[in-house]
Amino acid sequence: MSTLTFAQEIQEGIPTHIPLEKPWDLHVNHAPKRKDILSKEEKKLAIANALRYFPKDQHVELAKDFAEELKTFGRIYMYRYRPTHAIFARPISEYPGKSTQAKAIMLMIQNNLDHAVAQHPHELITYGGNGAVFQNWVQYRLTMKYLSEMNDEQTLVMYSGHPMGLFPSHKNAPRVVVTNGMMIPNYSKPDDWEKFNALGVTQYGQMTAGSYMYIGPQGIVHGTTITVLNAVRRMAKNRDDIKGKLFLTAGLGGMSGAQPKAGNIAGVISVTAEVNPKAAKTRHEQGWVDEMITDLDELVFRVKKAQSSKEVVSIAYLGNVVDVWEKFDESGVHVDLGSDQTSLHNPWAGGYYPAGLSFDEANDLMSNDPEKFKTYVQESLRRHAASVNKHTEKGTYFFDYGNAFLLESSRAGGDVMAENHIDFKYPSYIQDILGPMCFDYGFGPFRWVCASGNPEDLAKTDAIACRVLEEMMLNSPVEIQQQMADNIQWIKGAQENKMVVGSQARILYADAEGRMRIAEAFNQAIAKGEIGVVILGRDHHDVSGTDSPYRETSNIYDGSRFTADMAIQNVIGDSFRGATWVSIHNGGGVGWGEVINGGFGMLLDGSADADRNLKMMLHWDVNNGIARRNWARNENAIFAIKRAMEIEPNLKVTLPNLVDDQLLNGLF
Ligand SMILES: NC(=O)c1ccc[n+]([C@@H]2O[C@H](COP(=O)([O-])OP(=O)(O)OC[C@H]3O[C@@H](n4cnc5c(N)ncnc54)[C@H](O)[C@@H]3O)[C@@H](O)[C@H]2O)c1
Repeated sequence: MSTLTFAQEIQEGIPTHIPLEKPWDLHVNHAPKRKDILSKEEKKLAIANALRYFPKDQHVELAKDFAEELKTFGRIYMYRYRPTHAIFARPISEYPGKSTQAKAIMLMIQNNLDHAVAQHPHELITYGGNGAVFQNWVQYRLTMKYLSEMNDEQTLVMYSGHPMGLFPSHKNAPRVVVTNGMMIPNYSKPDDWEKFNALGVTQYGQMTAGSYMYIGPQGIVHGTTITVLNAVRRMAKNRDDIKGKLFLTAGLGGMSGAQPKAGNIAGVISVTAEVNPKAAKTRHEQGWVDEMITDLDELVFRVKKAQSSKEVVSIAYLGNVVDVWEKFDESGVHVDLGSDQTSLHNPWAGGYYPAGLSFDEANDLMSNDPEKFKTYVQESLRRHAASVNKHTEKGTYFFDYGNAFLLESSRAGGDVMAENHIDFKYPSYIQDILGPMCFDYGFGPFRWVCASGNPEDLAKTDAIACRVLEEMMLNSPVEIQQQMADNIQWIKGAQENKMVVGSQARILYADAEGRMRIAEAFNQAIAKGEIGVVILGRDHHDVSGTDSPYRETSNIYDGSRFTADMAIQNVIGDSFRGATWVSIHNGGGVGWGEVINGGFGMLLDGSADADRNLKMMLHWDVNNGIARRNWARNENAIFAIKRAMEIEPNLKVTLPNLVDDQLLNGLF
């Protein structure tokens, strides 16, 4: 047992002596064994790569240990280097170091690995099954050491979890620049990522995992509430009409666990299927889902009762979602709203559990016979799609929740393609809901963390944000009044909903003006000593940060949704406008190779520099995406960018001229 204090252990970095092996902790949710993908030669390379962190006299012992890990888990996590200190977002004052900005980043890294927050904390996975902060524990140790040593004239460079080192820069440069999973495009295929990850040279950073901006499931509750609420609004004329509507979906994991809570806030009955008993239990114990049912007949009985008495209730079904879709069809249970949040961005390594196999059987097959497992997944997806189709024929509104359900179902041969054989039968939640209603206007998942760790600071920031939005609402155009009202309602209920898990964080959908005005008001409150320093950020799943043809940019119809200029421009632009750290990832949400996404973090310390940076950077961070959405001829974005140009005379954006369809039809 180490006798070092927290600060000393951070400053120590990689210990000089090899630590004792750590016992396997059964209480922790561990990542499934990864596919054995490396050849014998490649395995040697993986071990050599891992040993680069250690002096030669330790290689014999460590080589054996790492080879064993590679064999048992398919990856080298360097478990024995897990620190002895508890990992969670401590008050910023407890982090050792010379740079407050670097301390803010340490706090955010620790939050992403907190046992209460992270999905597989010992494998350094924050969410989504494979969203990694680091590839191994030595990278964690080395990064924390660098952060504790650096000053404000240095920048730490992070290559997919590996800290390449500190480089001289300047005060207004980012303190950390993160890249994750960036590949040469011709080597960016599923087996390539598995292989290069197993070699220890790249990692899947998801969106906010490898960028240190995950704030627990709260982030997703807000977005999910907005989505479910607006999806329900499409079917129901008023609040009363919403009562008794049934929402069927799957997944009680990192993000998907927010669905039952969102269902309750939106006022519907929700059934969420989950195959992993540990995940379901966690959400039940947290109070995020009201009831747990393990038997399908009992589920049908309970749902019919809830429908007839128009209850608002959330039910977890412990089992496979395909069975629920099929059972509801046979039993005549009408589903009003349907979706799916299994981790289909990661279909072959535990993201999707096929029907017909128990949870344990699936886990065994996945690692022992990956090819056979793949055929089970594909068969299950075909059944899944067929059953959803039966329901939609009876009136269910089904939408893809950005988890690549339609994409993978189509690849598996499921009946999900539209008649034109190009589009899917069903819209993505971005095409119908978040894209036109939020992103095109600049509304997206702005967030902040009170670095003092004091809940009172969070309550004060909530009150400040609410005041700013209410002031803005008085003069906001009718086009965005509904958004403003939803966001005010959210922030008013935020304290009551008790959604803080981990750091003292808050999420709030806001547009460019809202984000700037709220941040400015925080900075003033910090300057006056009313609150401690605040870290700003956002989900990558936003207006400008992400190019993802089947998700964030799925409502871009000019052909450019398969390009990634916007995300790259965004992170470059943020980095020279004052971001404290920036990140750019290949993959996130829908899977490696399917998306390029970027984000930022920014420390507000009450200074004039912070005031200048926040205005410059947040303005760009939102308006970049609105400009692009406007150029794609999205009506609401054209409105929003014209409005932004009226407010800021230095903004001059190219506007599109619209073409008459009849002219085009006459050409060919
Ligand atoms: N919530 C959002 O706003 C949002 C937005 C975009 C995309 N997504 C996507 O949603 C997916 C889920 O994210 P997550 O963080 O919750 O992942 P996760 O891996 O933590 O959770 C998924 C859960 O689904 C369960 N599951 C898998 N197959 C199942 C099946 N057939 N039946 C029942 N349960 C099954 C798993 O056991 C797991 O607990 C990801 O692909 C993510 O990218 C979510």
